[in-house]
Amino acid sequence: MELIFRAEENQEEEVLFVPVLKDDKAITNLIKSFDYEDESDVLSRVKKENFLGKKGQVFVIHDDQQTIVFIGTGQAKKLAAEDFRKTAGHVIAYLKKYKANKIGLVAKHWLKGTSDISLLAQSLAEGLYLANYDFDKYKKVDKENIKVDIKEIYVYLLASQKVKFTKAWDLGKSLAEGTILARDLVNEPAGIMTPQFLADTAVIIAKANKPASRQGGNITVKILEEEAIKKLKMNAFLSIAKGSEARPKFIHLVYKPTGKAKDKIALVGKGLTFDSGGLNIKPWEGMYDMKIDMGGAATVLGVFQSLVASNPKVEVHGIIAACENMPSGSAVKPGDVVRNMQGKSIEIAHTDAEGRVTLADSLAYAQKQGITKIVDLATLTGAVIAALGSQYAGFFSNNDKLAKAILKQAKDTGETMWQLPLAPEYKDMNKSKIADIRNISNTKGGGSIMAAWFLNHFIEDGVEWAHIDIAGPAYIEKSINSYTPVGGAGFGVRTILNWLRSI
Ligand code: BES
Ligand code: ZN
Ligand code: ZN
Repeated sequence: MELIFRAEENQEEEVLFVPVLKDDKAITNLIKSFDYEDESDVLSRVKKENFLGKKGQVFVIHDDQQTIVFIGTGQAKKLAAEDFRKTAGHVIAYLKKYKANKIGLVAKHWLKGTSDISLLAQSLAEGLYLANYDFDKYKKVDKENIKVDIKEIYVYLLASQKVKFTKAWDLGKSLAEGTILARDLVNEPAGIMTPQFLADTAVIIAKANKPASRQGGNITVKILEEEAIKKLKMNAFLSIAKGSEARPKFIHLVYKPTGKAKDKIALVGKGLTFDSGGLNIKPWEGMYDMKIDMGGAATVLGVFQSLVASNPKVEVHGIIAACENMPSGSAVKPGDVVRNMQGKSIEIAHTDAEGRVTLADSLAYAQKQGITKIVDLATLTGAVIAALGSQYAGFFSNNDKLAKAILKQAKDTGETMWQLPLAPEYKDMNKSKIADIRNISNTKGGGSIMAAWFLNHFIEDGVEWAHIDIAGPAYIEKSINSYTPVGGAGFGVRTILNWLRSI
């Protein structure tokens, strides 16, 4: 996709897209502003086709000059970032259907109720790139039906707005690229997507952003092999990994910004490249999708993919304990007791509550780096899907300020999260008869809260921590909007990047 700025409207080669508010008068006035000779014919066709500006509804005018596509936004007044992303998604849908590949956008038509050219450019880029995604590498047929090869995007705006537009467009594009990497990783089957594959991906990201190669921020990586993991006494993590032939990898990425870092943050991702349940094996329906159990790790890697380009002024550590949860003669057994690197003992009452056990070591490792602000992302519980469905992540935090800051970005980004309580009433329900804590609760219900309390057990005093249970939105069964197709969603990448940029 190449951006080309032009001053003159009415070029012939592209399809001009114009967003429309859900308002009869606005539609009439907008169409009138195009000065058609046969205006009354056009307006009567609007009536006949019942074009009301509903979300994704299109009204097309072909004249000898060009094709103009009016796209309903479904909004009555002002357009926000999420409306631009969704409308961009409808632009892609139109292009796919009619096999067109040149887009014309007139900024003044798009700036409806907002004068923020940066917001427009960023969200348009996000929407266009994300909507034009399809995980098609294993499909033989119909390739050309799936993606459009967008050649050029002609943008008409004031010369003075070009720099702002380009800067925000590039940011949106980079946020989309990180999201797309996370989608690819989640969509990749577990036969390929092994702990080694996650580690290799981290190494590729670090190589592309290494200190010497850039003036801006940079990324370095450390991959800890089994021996090193043992030395650090991450025996909770190792207990989950040991049922599998795939060797565990512990991934530690570090992003350093230019200049002095304003803060130091750890992003911790659950990295189960397959979750069979272990000896407490899952039934087939429950196991079928479990290649996605590294969704948290995918989000962390997606964020790192875009960190240098989006340039936040904070130091960021990406931490992933990558392994498989498998049943075998060497697998951890229900009732086993293991210790994490802090020396805290854990009773593994259920081998399918494995993510939290690996996170016990990832969180401990993050704190050992002296980091006092941690966000973890994990496809942790089926219970969060029961509670919030597939479009909301469950959000927990021990710090209101941190919670508020992340939730605000989530809302603006269209990645919906809902805060659930770290209810003090439930704090002690993970009590074990034999160890410091048990990996499942003694009481039925509230599974996501119980899991959050389990993680909290490994958070030291004074550490700010947020836990995002993405079991629902990490993977989309049915397309949820025009720019999020079925499959891995790359959920959280854009929220976290925007949050880091806001610090
Ligand atoms: N990876 C699963 C959670 C999950 C379920 C993610 C569905 C995405 C979709 C997790 O490891 C798990 O199995 N959790 C159990 C916990 C239970 C044994 C306490 C669950 O939620 O059933
Ligand atoms: Zn599990
Ligand atoms: Zn799991």
